[in-house]
Amino acid sequence: MRIGILTAGGDCPGLNAVIRGVVARANERHDAVVVGVLDGWDGLMEGRVRPLDREAVRGILQRGGTILGTSRRDPYVHGKGAASVRATLEREHLDGLVVVGGDGTLRSALRLSEEGIPIVGVPKTIDNDIPGTDATFGFDTAAQTAAEAIDRITTTAESHDRVMVVEVMGRTCGWIATYAGIAAGADAILVPEEPYDLDAVADLVRARAARGRRYSVVVVAEGIVPPPGAGLAAPLDAFGFERLGGVAAVVATELERRTGFEARVTVLGHIQRGGTPTATDRVLGSRFGVAAADLAVTGTFGRMIALRGVDVVDVELEVVRGVPRSVPAAILDVARALSTP
Ligand code: F6P
Repeated sequence: MRIGILTAGGDCPGLNAVIRGVVARANERHDAVVVGVLDGWDGLMEGRVRPLDREAVRGILQRGGTILGTSRRDPYVHGKGAASVRATLEREHLDGLVVVGGDGTLRSALRLSEEGIPIVGVPKTIDNDIPGTDATFGFDTAAQTAAEAIDRITTTAESHDRVMVVEVMGRTCGWIATYAGIAAGADAILVPEEPYDLDAVADLVRARAARGRRYSVVVVAEGIVPPPGAGLAAPLDAFGFERLGGVAAVVATELERRTGFEARVTVLGHIQRGGTPTATDRVLGSRFGVAAADLAVTGTFGRMIALRGVDVVDVELEVVRGVPRSVPAAILDVARALSTP
């Protein structure tokens, strides 16, 4: 049995744990060979691969990024779907493919699977919003990184009597904003899941000042609807997703205008995607990798690994057609409850 593995789309901490998990399980339990496909779908279309055995994946668990490389290129945008990847599968004698990716990657994996390519999907993203799974690895690390950054921003906000607006990733859902914001005690958290009212945020800033707290920290998910008249134009990436960033600057300008407090902006950007994964993400990635190897060697394709409660299960790959998984109302309610002067 020969299994290929690729990582595609935006990277996240924990990808190497998946690769290591697949290889360890496939080699040692199933006597199967694993082939690493380089740079996501690009490598599959262009036939760029490297052998992966147990030795090749030693010492990678702690490393951020992906030892296989990744790209935002896509077989349906930059190729001809299954026709553009079959040659590599045949040349490498691959019986199946483990595809580790986010929503765009997994939707392409589903289309390939419908064209007959044997695929097991593994969900990843710092955004934590893939339908069909209760969690994705990468999120815990990103939320921790963002919370630590907000802690630091809070001390300087206090020294200078400033409003600090911190922009975090989260294209369609505000998981990082909500978790990092709650964890770091942010004063207001704006997420794509619900409308926001900048007048209310300005009132909060003023009420805090009236109580002697002449600084405030506002966390903004990059994917919120920009304030009216913001004029932000986002170019599209290969999957047709908007390349976001910059909404915090508009929010800061509006808050400064309304409150008179100096407002500054920090965009955390790719810091959230980099660095060493937390123990939680290493464990989840490892569990997903082992489960993916088990599915692939038994020829169980067209499935996606998922977390349900505390169990790792597999579900129809079809689930990725669903709507992104929003932050539950109960958690948003906690964020609101803690947003007091
Ligand atoms: O999907 C994960 C993500 O980190 C989003 O939160 C963000 O909008 C996007 O990737 C950025 O991707 P890129 O690095 O390709 O600009």
